[in-house]
Amino acid sequence: MPHELGRVQLVGAGPGAADLLTVRALRAIEGAQALLYDALVSPDVLALAPAACLKIQTGKRAGRTSMPQATINRLMLRLARRGLRVVRLKGGDPSVFGRVGEEAAFLHAHGVATEVVPGVTAASAAAAQFGFPLTHRGEARRLLVATATVGEGALAGGGWAAGADPETTLALYMGRDQLAAVAERLIAEGRSPQTPALAVENAGRPDARAIPATLASLAADVAAAAPDGPVVVIVGEVVAQARRLLMPIICTNRTAVGKAQA
Ligand SMILES: C[S@@+](CC[C@H](N)C(=O)[O-])C[C@H]1O[C@@H](n2cnc3c(N)ncnc32)[C@H](O)[C@@H]1O
Repeated sequence: MPHELGRVQLVGAGPGAADLLTVRALRAIEGAQALLYDALVSPDVLALAPAACLKIQTGKRAGRTSMPQATINRLMLRLARRGLRVVRLKGGDPSVFGRVGEEAAFLHAHGVATEVVPGVTAASAAAAQFGFPLTHRGEARRLLVATATVGEGALAGGGWAAGADPETTLALYMGRDQLAAVAERLIAEGRSPQTPALAVENAGRPDARAIPATLASLAADVAAAAPDGPVVVIVGEVVAQARRLLMPIICTNRTAVGKAQA
């Protein structure tokens, strides 16, 4: 192992609400001298950093360009080598679609020590907020965390057979535009079209919105609701528990949405 110079903390900022940060994440942010943060990190969380901390946004939402990964890597390295306490802040949990492996490997290869501080991932925040579990004894024995890439109109890559098991809960990240392809593939693999589904926009935040659906209606229902915040989609029998709990605020209209309960 190379001699270590500097240190970077790769920190999960959770889904947005500052009180969903871990205490360790809060301490890291409060002690940061340089903070490189992704687009999904909320202003409430950023406000916890010291005023003198150098804050650099590395990602932009809504199709606008983000900083290239190589530039982010070089920046982290340069700041760490200057001896600053560097925090790389990512939405949710850095180990879930957060490139934490790539960044840690790069820093390690350049002699910079890293520490990963976990965060509450979007699927956990959605389940907690809308009152259903991600696994449930006798009903959901497996949690499949996935994203979807579509090439030439069809879902790329394998592994979807696991999502067809009626005891699997699927948590789909970055899949809002791929829902028709995902549903088609799961149904083709044998999952019931009537499987309950819930798309949750802005999970873990006060303005969270739940869009209830079935696997068959998911793509149309989400398109009709036109969310513009981040969306995580949960598919599985466990979602029916949310529907029962939300019944007073979600009507049976397929395009109805439920606001998060305060
Ligand atoms: C690059 S991934 C990062 C995931 C993040 N590391 C996590 O653990 O939640 C971005 C995707 O995560 C999901 N996501 C992140 N924050 C969310 C939130 N507050 N509500 C709903 N979905 C969210 C969305 O699917 C979004 O497109």
